[in-house]
Amino acid sequence: MPTNTLIAPKIKTALPGPNARRVLDGDQKFVSPSYTRSYPMVAERGQGIVVTDVDGNEFFDFSAGIAVTSTGHCHPHVVAGIQKQAAELIHMSGTDFYYESMVTLAERLSKIAPMPGPHKIYYGNSGTEAIECAFKLARYHTKRQNVIAFYGAFHGRTMGALSLTASKPQQKRRFAPLVPGVTHIRYPDVYRDAGTQDPEAFAISCARFIEDKLFRTTLPPEEVAAIFVEPIQGEGGYVIAPTVFMQELRRICDRHGILLVVDEVQSGVGRTGKWWAVEHTGVQPDMVCVAKGIASGMPLGITMTRAEIMDWAPGSHASTFGGNPVCIAAALATLDVIEREDLLRNASGVGHHMLKRMADWPAKHKLVGDVRGRGLMIGVEIVKDKKTKEYSAAERDRIVQLAFERGILFLGCGPSTIRIAPPLIVTKDEADVAMDALQDAISIVEDGA
Ligand SMILES: Cc1ncc(COP(=O)(O)O)c(C=O)c1O
Repeated sequence: MPTNTLIAPKIKTALPGPNARRVLDGDQKFVSPSYTRSYPMVAERGQGIVVTDVDGNEFFDFSAGIAVTSTGHCHPHVVAGIQKQAAELIHMSGTDFYYESMVTLAERLSKIAPMPGPHKIYYGNSGTEAIECAFKLARYHTKRQNVIAFYGAFHGRTMGALSLTASKPQQKRRFAPLVPGVTHIRYPDVYRDAGTQDPEAFAISCARFIEDKLFRTTLPPEEVAAIFVEPIQGEGGYVIAPTVFMQELRRICDRHGILLVVDEVQSGVGRTGKWWAVEHTGVQPDMVCVAKGIASGMPLGITMTRAEIMDWAPGSHASTFGGNPVCIAAALATLDVIEREDLLRNASGVGHHMLKRMADWPAKHKLVGDVRGRGLMIGVEIVKDKKTKEYSAAERDRIVQLAFERGILFLGCGPSTIRIAPPLIVTKDEADVAMDALQDAISIVEDGA
C-alpha cells in the first residue's frame, strides 16, 4: 500500500540534526546514563500525533511517550484544563488538606471501574507508586505477607514494585536485597511457550501451577495477600493473557481470600478499546493500578480498590504531591476528551484495522514471528528463526531505528518486540503511513539479514 503523502511525516535534516546534537552532548555531560534511549529523538513540540524535534523535523508518534499521551500531544481541552488550574491552585497536598477535584476524579473513576462499587481511590504520582500502594495495602488489609507475580512483568522501579518486576536483569542488577515475600511464576506467553499444547489448556495450566505446585510445596495459601498481574504484559513484550487464565486466577483468589490486583498502568484508560484491558476477560479485580494515559502526560498514579479493602488508618500511606491539582485537572480533561471524541471506539476500530493489515506479516516476513494486540496496544515480535523463535533484539532495534529515520516513532518492548502504542486519536490514514514505514524498515533489515 503506498504511503499517503498528504499526511506523511516530514524529515528535513540528517538525523540527528545540529540542534539535536547540541542537546545530546549536554545530556551526555549532565544527565543520568541510566535512561534507555533507542534513538536520538530530541523533542521540542507536540500536537496530536505529531512531534517536532529541535531541528524542525516532524515525526508521527506511535509510542505516545511510552503509552502516555492518550489524547495526543497538547490536546486543546487538556491544555486549557491545565492552564486554568495552574492559575487557580497549583499545590495544596491532599495528604493534609482537602480540595474538591480529588473527589470529582474519584467519583468519575468509580463510574468506569472494572469492578462493582463502592470504591476508594489513592493518589500518587506514577505507575510505580500506584503499585507500591497496592503492595502495601494488600499486606495491610489481609495481614498476609506474600504475593505472587509473573515472569516478564514490569511493575515499576521503586523497591516494592521492583521486587514484583521480572522483566530484564539490568533492572535488578546490584539493587538487591529486594522486598522479600514475592514468588514469580510463568505468564502464559502462548506464542512462545504453548508448543503443541492447546493454547487455552496451556494458559490454564500456568494459573493452576499456583494451587497444584506452589500451595502444595512452598507457599501456604493463607499467607498470600495478592496476585499482581498485567492483563497484557507491557514492557514484557505486549503479551496478552488469555481470558481463561485471568478467570482461573480469579477463582484461585476467591478460594483462598487472596486479592487480585491488575496492573493497568500501560493497558488502561482506553488503550485496548475498553477503559480497562481486564474488561476483555470479564474478570473483576479487587484493585486496579492506573497511571500513564490517565492524565495525557501529567504525572499521576492511582490505586483504585473495592472500598472495604482500603481500610488503613490515617498515616499509613501518603505522598506530598500525589493527586496534585494540576494533574487531576489534566485527568478530568482526559476523561472528557475520551468520552466526547469516542476514543474507545476509535482505539478499537483503528487497532482492528492495523491488526487486520498486519495479520499476514508472519507469513510474508521472515523476521516477523508474531503480531498480536488489542486496540492500540499492538506488538510485532521479531525473531531470527520462525521455528526456534530465537529472539532477535539487534534486528528489532535496527527496524525501530530505520522507522525513526522515516519519521515514525516506535519503541521496543520485551526481548525483541516492536511496540505500537499511538495516541488514541490516531486515524486509519495515519496508521497506514506508520505501517508502510514499518513494513519498509522490516523489509530492508530482512534483505540485509
Ligand atoms: C504495567 C506497568 N506498570 C508499572 C509501570 C511503572 O510506571 P512508572 O514508570 O510511571 O513508574 C509501568 C511503566 O512502564 C508499566 O508499564
